[in-house]
Amino acid sequence: MDVRSKYLEFFASKGHQIYSSMPLVPDDPTLLFTNAGMVQFKDIFTGKVPAPSTPRATSSQLCIRAGGKHNDLENVGYTARHHTLFEMLGNFSFGDYFKKQAIAYAWEFVTEVLGFSKDVLYVTVHESDDEAFELWSAHIDPSRIKRLGDKDNFWQMGDTGPCGPCSEIFVDQGEEYFNGDEDYFGGDGDRFLEIWNLVFMQYERSEDGALTPLPKPSIDTGMGLERVVALLEGKRSNFDSSIFMPLIKKVEELCGKPYVYESGASYRVIADHARSVAFLLAQGVHFDKEGRGYVLRRILRRAVRHGYLLGLKRAFLFEVVEKVCEMMGDVYPYLLEKKSLISSQCKNEEQRFFETLETGMSLFKKELENTSKIFSGEIAFKLYDTYGFPLDLTQDMLKDSGIEVDISEFESCMQKQRELAKASWKGSGDEINGGELGKVATLPQESLSRSEVLNAKSKIAILFNAEGIEVASLEGEGYAMLEKNPFYAQGGGAVGDSGWLYDGEKLIAEVKDTRNFFGKEVCKVVALTPLKTHQEIEAKVDLLRQIEIRKHHSATHLLHAILREVLGEEVTQAGSLVEENRLRFDFSYPKALSSEEIVEIEKRVNALITQTLKAEIVEMSIEEAKAKGAMALFGEKYGDRVRVVSFGEHSCELCGGLHIQDIGMIGNFFILKESGVSSGVRRIEAVCGKAGYEYALKTLTTLQEAKEMLKAQDLLASISKLQEQNKELKEKIKKLSSNSSDLSVEEIRGVKVIISEVQCESKEMIDNLKNKYDKVVALLISNTDGKITLSAGVKNAPLKAGAWVKEIAQILGGNGGGRDDFATAGGKDASKIAEALQKARLYVSQNIIG
Ligand code: ALA
Repeated sequence: MDVRSKYLEFFASKGHQIYSSMPLVPDDPTLLFTNAGMVQFKDIFTGKVPAPSTPRATSSQLCIRAGGKHNDLENVGYTARHHTLFEMLGNFSFGDYFKKQAIAYAWEFVTEVLGFSKDVLYVTVHESDDEAFELWSAHIDPSRIKRLGDKDNFWQMGDTGPCGPCSEIFVDQGEEYFNGDEDYFGGDGDRFLEIWNLVFMQYERSEDGALTPLPKPSIDTGMGLERVVALLEGKRSNFDSSIFMPLIKKVEELCGKPYVYESGASYRVIADHARSVAFLLAQGVHFDKEGRGYVLRRILRRAVRHGYLLGLKRAFLFEVVEKVCEMMGDVYPYLLEKKSLISSQCKNEEQRFFETLETGMSLFKKELENTSKIFSGEIAFKLYDTYGFPLDLTQDMLKDSGIEVDISEFESCMQKQRELAKASWKGSGDEINGGELGKVATLPQESLSRSEVLNAKSKIAILFNAEGIEVASLEGEGYAMLEKNPFYAQGGGAVGDSGWLYDGEKLIAEVKDTRNFFGKEVCKVVALTPLKTHQEIEAKVDLLRQIEIRKHHSATHLLHAILREVLGEEVTQAGSLVEENRLRFDFSYPKALSSEEIVEIEKRVNALITQTLKAEIVEMSIEEAKAKGAMALFGEKYGDRVRVVSFGEHSCELCGGLHIQDIGMIGNFFILKESGVSSGVRRIEAVCGKAGYEYALKTLTTLQEAKEMLKAQDLLASISKLQEQNKELKEKIKKLSSNSSDLSVEEIRGVKVIISEVQCESKEMIDNLKNKYDKVVALLISNTDGKITLSAGVKNAPLKAGAWVKEIAQILGGNGGGRDDFATAGGKDASKIAEALQKARLYVSQNIIG
């Protein structure tokens, strides 16, 4: 049975609108990932957005529970039902039907469509919910209804957001599933399996924990597709079902060992994690050091380590990821479109991890041998920091031994590192987020149009000091929101406007930056005379700077388009920074660009610039924009109005930022650098406009100066001549300096003794001495370029070079050693060279004379 389609069809037949799965990365900073079907309707539940004309919805939503409030990562593989990624079937009512109808629909679907016998069904309700108890009693014997507390029967999306009491439906799988644990419905044992959660959305929880009633009571339900399919197929675990078995078979094939349920956790981890990796990559999440990208990295590394346990000591996960794309591509076509890209991104990342995996594993094993109870937090941190083992990976590796990581020690190592990193964040403007800037949300603000921007008359609406605390009068640094605002705020990677505030002719404040806080444009200012709330001012934007920002922004769009032309359609934007004097563009691409490609890209962008095309900026629906072929980031919602920026046929992108009117104004474009940011993500840094001219001028001036210094017409020929000469000179010096004839030679008991300070590379000299004499001991100390090096050689004499050099190096504050016939060392303290030479002689006489 195709449960997904049956579910959507059933609810469509009951007047529900079918919605497609929203992106896994929600446009909601309180959530790491979309973790339930209701996330795309959150603002409708809370009343922030009006309910659609059809107040009933249904969807099959991809969810990730691997971080944040609902985190199942560590259980995955070891239980029958936990997953990092799963599909949640849901039906929703926005102030339309409530408990009675929700219960009736659920009962009808479970008994008539899925065909579960009433004899195997049970339900739980919240202990206070008499109404739900009554309503269920119309369908099911009251002895099969249980009241439970908040822990089981109160659901909320995150620490804040819509929530309410809930009711869960359980299926009794039969006595043979009893695992000696919680053999009753409502528990976590294996026999009674929860299949559906009906949430009666009634409240919104705010940050202080308080519950406010929602404008209209609503319905949110969630049924895990994977467990229902497994139940209908009569399987004891989701992993045995047709959703996961082909992936497990793929792992069997790759490692060449058969899957056995009892000891098969690693197979299950890989099958599960390959799905998350496939979907996250396909939806534009990249491997990263923090945030969502780090969760993705942790998932991949956990899978790789389980592959390692199965003997897979090479990149393999990408092959399982490809299988996921093939299996699910009919429902999620973007998996097939992006298959080769995500496979190579996955492979790259795996290979990078393999580089440190072996070494990390042996450090781990060594530490484990010395551990009886608590695993060192410092080593766990080293594994994390140097070898890329996320903490939960180390914890996972300790799972069977019952040993735990010393978390507080780990945290304190982490804290130390954070403090080191923190210095670089200061002054970025982010520190004020915690202040009172939220107050701007309730104040009106008018954005001025282009024609009004010059010398805009306005008033100061509200002022904050540098800590973000509201003040009536501001001196020095702080923040100001203007009633009518001409300054463009930072957004879409572009920096915000700067400028000045005037009182008549008098300059009263400098505007350093503009940011959007809580939906309003707020200026970072330095008041030159005290500013007052409600003061009338004249605002002037630094338009010369703004135009350079516009040029770099438009150039970024051209670069994006040309990258796709030269490197292929798989190039997608991964990040962008636009300033008045540079741009940085990150994009997904599996390998470094060749210098030919870089030249070609630069050439083509410049060729476009010379075409002097007009920018066309139009608002349209997302559907129209897609039909026009606009490049959009994954996850724009249907029905949204978007702004589309195009330059002729070449570039067409969704974008809310500022651009120049004609691309000819960009003037020029130079790529300064191409580099890697993380696996599968490349970065181009470039300049254009005024900064481009300055860059070109500086380069030409340097070349001119070089010509003058070398008195050369043909610079390249001169440089290669110089290189040639340099090489010859080096060889000459080497020959001269390795000529050992001017070293003073003593003789003790037939052994030649040479102990001296030299001004050149000493190793070769030692070789010469050993060739020249039959019995010899030699120790040479060189002190060149601030580096002290000791070399010692011994031939046919009762002395060990290693021990000798070691002892002498210690006098110089250094260390070293080596073989009996040849050894080297380093030293630090040049003031002790004379003493070291003298001790070296003493050492020889003691050892040779006895
Ligand atoms: N939002 C509810 C859940 O995730 C249905 O369980």
